[in-house]
Amino acid sequence: MDSGKQITFPLLMSVGTAVIGSLQFGYNTGVINAPQKVIEKFINETWFERYQEQISKNSLTAIWSIAVAIFSVGGIFGSFSVGLFVNRFGRRNSMLMANVLAFIASALMGFSKMAASWEMLIAGRFVVGLYSGLSTGFVPMYVGEVSPTSLRGALGTLHQLGIVVGILIAQVFGMEAIMGNDDLWSLLLGFIFVPAVIQCILLPMCPESPRFLLINKNEENRAKNVMKKLRGTTDVSADMQEMKEESRQMMREKKVTILELFRSPMYRQPLMVAVILQLSQQLSGINAVFYYSTRIFEKAGVEQPVYATIGAGVVNTAFTVVSLFVVERAGRRSLHLLGLLGMAGSAILMTIALALLEKLKWMSYLSIVAIFSFVAFFEIGPGPIPWFIVAELFSQGPRPSAMAVAGFSNWTANFIVGMAFQYIEELCGPYVFVIFTVLLLVFFVFTYFKVPETKGRTFDEISAGFRQSAAGGEKHSPEELNSLGADSQL
Ligand code: GLC
Repeated sequence: MDSGKQITFPLLMSVGTAVIGSLQFGYNTGVINAPQKVIEKFINETWFERYQEQISKNSLTAIWSIAVAIFSVGGIFGSFSVGLFVNRFGRRNSMLMANVLAFIASALMGFSKMAASWEMLIAGRFVVGLYSGLSTGFVPMYVGEVSPTSLRGALGTLHQLGIVVGILIAQVFGMEAIMGNDDLWSLLLGFIFVPAVIQCILLPMCPESPRFLLINKNEENRAKNVMKKLRGTTDVSADMQEMKEESRQMMREKKVTILELFRSPMYRQPLMVAVILQLSQQLSGINAVFYYSTRIFEKAGVEQPVYATIGAGVVNTAFTVVSLFVVERAGRRSLHLLGLLGMAGSAILMTIALALLEKLKWMSYLSIVAIFSFVAFFEIGPGPIPWFIVAELFSQGPRPSAMAVAGFSNWTANFIVGMAFQYIEELCGPYVFVIFTVLLLVFFVFTYFKVPETKGRTFDEISAGFRQSAAGGEKHSPEELNSLGADSQL
């Protein structure tokens, strides 16, 4: 198949517009890191105006931690609610509607300074967390459903690219000289209305997911017209045929709620793979770096920690682009394995650097190398792949529920690492990365034995592989699952 021809303008425009949602998620992940001191000063002053006394250190830490962590709490609720929207309103309209949350959050955070209210800041972080949680379901689902099979991985990686570019923009905007200062920090947080406006203008010009139109709505003509536009050809019979096959399958499967997803043995294996891949992404420790890198670098004796943090953001973006170009050739499984192993090696390097810092000053350079390679290996596989592979592992019927469960697992693990890292670091000192090394190796072993390759296979072939494996007992290796998937084509 000539994949070059399949990249059409309507396809790029649809995917590009959708991933503005990913950009918002990344921006809000990264934005709170740099201006911490400035915002703490605002909380302190507000407290003083209200109560005529200085805020205690404990109260300040508590308010700050809540403002940071409530974002992931919003994400947990948002991601779990994905299924309520996508089948009722469609994929595209769900993304459009979610922007109401982005506008509310922007107003709450943007005006919190004027209103002298840190409560508004916290409320805004929660609401934008809701929005981001919804996006982590909506975007990979929509992108997976509009993409041709041979480009599903590459275009799926654009979700992660949106996230990392969002983080990088936030890191740069958050510098003191730009918006991370007393005068402009509220604008920095409220800035999210700009991407929201752009998305609201562009989304109505993007098509609804043809799979949603055909399989959920039974609107064959509309689905066909959308397909023709997306593929840039009038002959879309192969795509239509494949969707119809999936649709027939779904009739047999019935509608799948979250409860049924857990009960049915047919979904047990893909669900386990989906959830553990999400955990492998978050429990790799990546957000220990993105939430606390400045502090980690400070402790490692780096002189300009803010620049090292931005350096990590640049490496992060560059390697997501690398993954984008190799994922359709190397496959999901091998890239995920390589990424996990590389991260484990980097975590060991980091431990050595932190442990020997007292004796050898140049270890601070090693710590920068270790963090950069940790981040680079993350983006090769564990960053992008878990997000889009869930849409691949399930057919249309169970997909929304599966995305909700996977997203929920991801956000919960994100929250736990965000909250626990500081305390564990105090307990373990320089050995904190040993915990991540062990976890990474466990996830490597799991991926090796349990995760099938999904590259180049249609949704229907992938789920047929799992169905047959469920019917024939649970003893299939990933290679066997692959061939089962291929057999079902015949
Ligand atoms: C992934 C993770 C997110 C993390 C980001 C870093 O998208 O889901 O939590 O901050 O990668 O690039």
